Amino acid sequence: MKIKKQFLFIIAILVLVIGCKQASEVTPTKPVTLRNVYEDAFYIGTALNTFQIDETDSIMAGIVGREFSSITAENEMKSIQIHPARDTFNFEYPDKFVALGEKYNMFIHGHTLVWHSQLSPWIRNIKDSTEMAEALESHIKTIVSRYKGRVNSWDVVNEALNEDGSLRKSVFLEVMGEDYLALAFKWTSEIDPKADLYYNDYNMANPEKRQGAIRLVKNIMDKGIKVDGIGMQGHWHLNTPSLEEIEKSIVEYAALGVKVAITELDISVLPNPEDLVGAEITQNFQNSEAMNPYTKGMPDSIQVKLANRYTDIFKIFLKHKDKISRVTFWGVNDGQSWLNGFPVRGRTNHPLLFDRELKPKSAYDSIIALKQKQDKQSN
Ligand code: G3I
Repeated sequence: MKIKKQFLFIIAILVLVIGCKQASEVTPTKPVTLRNVYEDAFYIGTALNTFQIDETDSIMAGIVGREFSSITAENEMKSIQIHPARDTFNFEYPDKFVALGEKYNMFIHGHTLVWHSQLSPWIRNIKDSTEMAEALESHIKTIVSRYKGRVNSWDVVNEALNEDGSLRKSVFLEVMGEDYLALAFKWTSEIDPKADLYYNDYNMANPEKRQGAIRLVKNIMDKGIKVDGIGMQGHWHLNTPSLEEIEKSIVEYAALGVKVAITELDISVLPNPEDLVGAEITQNFQNSEAMNPYTKGMPDSIQVKLANRYTDIFKIFLKHKDKISRVTFWGVNDGQSWLNGFPVRGRTNHPLLFDRELKPKSAYDSIIALKQKQDKQSN
């Protein structure tokens, strides 16, 4: 009997030791970052400027590598930068950008192949349809070939619609007609059939524009040409667009059988000229508090409003994470945002997750907490 007790005691000790050893080998919990917390939902991305692509600022570089799982070049892959003259391509920063994405094992997004803005003058001045087609095909095929298998998705066409859903009278439409849309996607997929090809635009929660985008993408798909996704830029405000229209757009775009990406997310906390009663756009906003109220920082009340707005929007993204491939912020920190200069120059806006001192804002904490709470509830 004594031997049996000794045997059982030894077994118990062994189980305890093995249990403790296994516990210590459990993978350590990952650091709490946007990238890690949202890893099982969708890519979390950011737009990068040249200083960030160069990793000039080590603190900024740390944030980019740690917090984001996708990157977009804010300007360096646009026509005027990458293809400034017919026989001149400038790949310095696009090459650095792609290499940076590979260094941090990120989803690399190419922005943008066909856009009427920041368009090289040599393309803008083409009047002949055949010449325009040759120029666009060369532009697209040269760039997409260079990054084949490395750039994971492209904004093939950017902002081809008017607010009422009709086609914007860009130089492409004027010179080539509607065919430029399908041809741009066709040329891109001929070079890199594995890359995801997106149509990208702003105000995509606007009902009329939504119908226009659905028509545009459906027309291309009906020709048997690959479209993989629709990009909703997401340049939104504290109170508009409505959560209902945002959700309706995500659902209706996805119903086409394409992915939905939120491609340029930022939330302006400043009034727009038309928000002001009797606002006279030509008024000298430099002297008007009303147009530029937070030059010395955002009051707590607005921090809370911004955090709540991002949380409400991310609740919709998470509800439809099966449809959403990526959510990209249009910048890392408030100081770099284009919204400091649009629609009114020289303002101090606070639209992003990190402030001018590169500190995470309440909005950052809120969307992290939202996902952690949902994970806890589902486990
Ligand atoms: O590179 C030149 C520099 O050499 C020159 O000294 C300087 C003087 O103004 O201009 C620099 O170019 C500026 C460029 O950003 C790079 O900083 C352009 O003037 C300026 O117009 C350009 O603004 C960009 C804007 O697109 C152009 O339309 C913004 O940074 C960029 O955030 C914004 O992003 C667009 C998306 O691509 C498409 N969706 C809308 C979004 C906001 O407009």
